[in-house]
Amino acid sequence: MEKIKIMVVFGTRPEAIKMAPLVLELKRRDNIDCIVCTTGQHREMLDPIVKIFNLSIDYDLDIMEPRQTLSTITSKTLIGMEPVLKVAKPDMVLVHGDTSTAFTSALAAYYQKVPVGHVEAGLRTGNRYSPYPEEMNRRLISEIAQLHFSPTVSNAENLYNESISGEIFITGNTVIDALHTTVSKDFSFYTDALKNIDFDNNRVLLVTAHRRENYGKPLENIMNALKDLVCNYPDVRIIYPMHMSPEVRRTATDILGDMPRVELIDPINVDEMHNLMDRCHFILTDSGGLQEEAPALGKPVLVLRNETERPEAVTAGTVKVCGVEREAIYSAAAELLDSHDSYLSMANAVNPYGDGNACKRIADAILWHFGMGKRPENF
Ligand code: UD1
Ligand code: UDP
Repeated sequence: MEKIKIMVVFGTRPEAIKMAPLVLELKRRDNIDCIVCTTGQHREMLDPIVKIFNLSIDYDLDIMEPRQTLSTITSKTLIGMEPVLKVAKPDMVLVHGDTSTAFTSALAAYYQKVPVGHVEAGLRTGNRYSPYPEEMNRRLISEIAQLHFSPTVSNAENLYNESISGEIFITGNTVIDALHTTVSKDFSFYTDALKNIDFDNNRVLLVTAHRRENYGKPLENIMNALKDLVCNYPDVRIIYPMHMSPEVRRTATDILGDMPRVELIDPINVDEMHNLMDRCHFILTDSGGLQEEAPALGKPVLVLRNETERPEAVTAGTVKVCGVEREAIYSAAAELLDSHDSYLSMANAVNPYGDGNACKRIADAILWHFGMGKRPENF
């Protein structure tokens, strides 16, 4: 049987989580030979995900350096991808989202004249420096890619408005496919800091933050707002799995290191994270992925940024953008803690980001592109 060779590339934690179910789906298709290449951009945060989803890696560029800069990630990936593409000779390269791994791998594929498919295409804030450098990365990938897999209608509209060439499919977000495999009511936590948490008698706030544009003063404001919250609400407990970025860890530890009822812990595995989201009271985050996952679990999210490229859950009422000022963050969180009605109005389980079938649609779309099947219906 004729087979097409599809190379999936990822390098960071969210790309791995969101590409894992797609790799598994592509491997289930008889007429696809799926190979996996990682840049290793997030060495420590990536490897556990590869293990949990049982992925096998065909090529590993292992580019990560301590305190790496955007230029080192970009140049090492570009140089590393060239021989891999020459040897593997894929019929198509799939990249995800807006990381430096994704942009540079797409560029490397273009240099070898290999077509690119873009998973999670069309997200925009309209602000070229926020998120930085992701807004520019994803715009540049849209120019390079021939197949665009947009999670939502509004993501696809962004691409139509920019007159992007190629085929656009509305697929849902693959993170919802991943979530369907991890969350379970009888899940047992195995990380020490999570094992003994009494979710019934504490209000557990889950926090993550890592965005480059929040480094410095905004991150200090976020940490100080969290400090104010634990000081004023004795039943509040904060769990903060810190990103490996030294900048983030230093600021968090300096301000929250000695606070009671604040757990500053290492990144946790995705199965623990998804189940922690399911059991916590609400979430404060600047992460993109958490804004997509939490609405599906009916958990309110306060976004620690000035804008979001994920407006769907804001419209649905489960996500609120509260900025990066200490007082604004505190009062948005206090409102959720003080008012049961405010809490209930945000705690709706809605699913604007997917139905768990995004990977099937993407695999079907790729086969359709190569003349091997029907075009999938949009999500
Ligand atoms: C990257 C992506 C961002 C994504 C985020 C997910 C870019 C430019 N940014 O940002 O879009 O939202 O990942 O988390 O691609 N580090 C470690 N160990 C690790 C991972 C990171 O030490 O396992 C360190 C790096 O060496 C670096 C810092 O953390 O000093 C930041 O990592 P980097 O990949 O440069 O960018 P992120 O902020 O993680
Ligand atoms: N996540 C995780 N462990 C953690 C923190 C986050 O598994 O300690 C997961 C989270 O559930 C989501 C993804 O990592 O699926 C989001 O990654 P991140 O916040 O690093 O990146 P972003 O989504 O902002 O690009």
